[in-house]
Amino acid sequence: MSALEVQDLVVDYAGRGVPRFRAVDHVSFSMNQGETLALVGESGSGKSTIVRAIAQLTKVTSGRILLDGKDAPRHGRGLRRYRGEVQVVFQDPFASLNPSFSVGHHVRRPLIIHGTRRGEVEAEVRRLLETVSLTPAADVAKKFPHELSGGQRQRVAIARAVAPDPAVLLADEPVSMLDVSIRLEIMNLLDRMKRDRRLALLYVTHDLATARHFSTNIMVMYRGEIVERGTADDVILRPKHPYTRLLAESAPSRAATARRKTIIDAKPAQRERRDAPVGDGCKFRPRCPFAMEICKTRPRSSRRATVRRRNAGCSIPIARRRRRRAPRPRDGVARPAPACGAARRRRSHDPRR
Ligand SMILES: Nc1ncnc2c1ncn2[C@@H]1O[C@H](COP(=O)(O)OP(=O)(O)OP(=O)(O)O)[C@@H](O)[C@H]1O
Ligand code: SF4
Ligand SMILES: [Mg+2]
Repeated sequence: MSALEVQDLVVDYAGRGVPRFRAVDHVSFSMNQGETLALVGESGSGKSTIVRAIAQLTKVTSGRILLDGKDAPRHGRGLRRYRGEVQVVFQDPFASLNPSFSVGHHVRRPLIIHGTRRGEVEAEVRRLLETVSLTPAADVAKKFPHELSGGQRQRVAIARAVAPDPAVLLADEPVSMLDVSIRLEIMNLLDRMKRDRRLALLYVTHDLATARHFSTNIMVMYRGEIVERGTADDVILRPKHPYTRLLAESAPSRAATARRKTIIDAKPAQRERRDAPVGDGCKFRPRCPFAMEICKTRPRSSRRATVRRRNAGCSIPIARRRRRRAPRPRDGVARPAPACGAARRRRSHDPRR
């Protein structure tokens, strides 16, 4: 059985005087013990909303969250127990620790709340700080957050998160605010924690390289929907969805720079139209160089029904999309994709080719 299962999750945000905004749109996935599942996607795609919904920090509009096969309690003691089992490491190590309290207090509190015996608490605080390489633990415990570096603060946040011995750890961009030189150290620490404690780890990130290196599987999110999922290598090296290709080809590398023009430059005028209304059609349509008429009307329900398939978000077969790909720009100006077979035949007789 999966450690955590999310079924058909919907989260709407309602604002005063503004229409409801659907941040998470019928998302389903499961997480297994001892495995890392990466969640990637651009800013505003709904990644943190999923984390907050699982951690019960945001109201769920509809759908189910199951821990060990049982529905997540919404209040009372059940919720407290659930929060012990599902812990979060937030993006900002400066904001996530209270500056008025010592490091020891931050690690001690979850231990007391979740039932560690009084006599064992101090020894456990020291053991946890040593586990995250904050030594000498007795001295570090007395320090305050402002006396630590960003990397050390994030280590405290990780020690605090694993203190109640959770089954699930949600790491929401845990290294994005840290210096590049210590990102790998923190990622290695999270990876070690996952292995040693058999955690189900959800790793939210923008960084495809670390997602591939540290994850078993990757999910790609776009405007509230999971548009692609699969093993880390499949998604990064053999992306199927046009949006995943865009992400993969946006990563800085020489080969990617050459390939990227076909997809990123194909519709330059529409690149900014990320929030364009799409009705019932595919949400990526305003930016997709392979968009067809059917993409305007294809009912969303068909996508929901196929969430377990790798390429859940695009119904156009990849071979058909290749035929419709916009020709490579020869003068820096992208040309529109050929509309039909006749256009392709004309192009094949073009003497410049
Ligand atoms: N409390 C809120 N009220 C209204 N809208 C919100 C609220 N929180 C988030 N949103 C909106 O929901 C969408 C998803 O936000 P979310 O923080 O989940 O994105 P994200 O993928 O985590 O982005 P980033 O990578 O920048 O952290 C955004 O458009 C955001 O503006
Ligand atoms: S469904 Fe159409 S618009 Fe959407 S990603 Fe696939 S080809 Fe592009
Ligand atoms: Mg976020």
